[in-house]
Amino acid sequence: MSQGEMKQKAAKAALEFVETGEIIGVGTGSTVNYFIDYLAEIKHKVEGAVSSSEASSDRLRSHGIPVLNLNDTGTLSIYVDGADESNKHLHLIKGGGGALTREKIIASASKRFICIADDSKLVDVMGKFPLPIEVIPMARSYVAREITKLGGTPVWRDQFITDNGNEILDIHNLEIVNPVELENDLNQITGVVTVGLFAKRPADVLILGGKDGIKRYD
Ligand code: A5P
Repeated sequence: MSQGEMKQKAAKAALEFVETGEIIGVGTGSTVNYFIDYLAEIKHKVEGAVSSSEASSDRLRSHGIPVLNLNDTGTLSIYVDGADESNKHLHLIKGGGGALTREKIIASASKRFICIADDSKLVDVMGKFPLPIEVIPMARSYVAREITKLGGTPVWRDQFITDNGNEILDIHNLEIVNPVELENDLNQITGVVTVGLFAKRPADVLILGGKDGIKRYD
């Protein structure tokens, strides 16, 4: 079974969390793309979606699902999104697709965060996947120097501009043994917009697709 098929299984399993009449949060990435395609089959159930990226908004609209502004919706019942890594506490690394800021905003504004992924994303200690950090462009070098002092190796994601007009540093060589503390420390660096570590607000449910089916953690 391919990784894509495992992602697809996890995406399908998330449909059970969609309740009638709700506006739901929708993230970004290849796993979420499967979820959006499944959501289209039950689109009469939802009033619309708040999306974490232009790419997901386009896909939602192409299926005729209204894309709404978070400022108009209030708290969302669920947020469905993928992850680049997760530990067993459902702390996540996100932002491989560069949409981490909007993802964190929607996750924070949602009652339940349903994370969907293939089972290769579950690790004991996070950090093998480089941690994305969105930075204000003029602060990029300063933030990189500060991160080096903390033991990480920042690499500029060249030629990449976020939907918010900012830049991304991908931090290599981290062994994230205390995700909450690291998220706090990185958030203190001036010029950092968003840290792609979702530890203070982890997922509430993790659905992993694997060759033997679905595993759910909550
Ligand atoms: C997007 O910025 C990321 O946070 C994605 O959620 C993450 O990269 C997962 O992507 P895939 O679903 O493509 O693996």
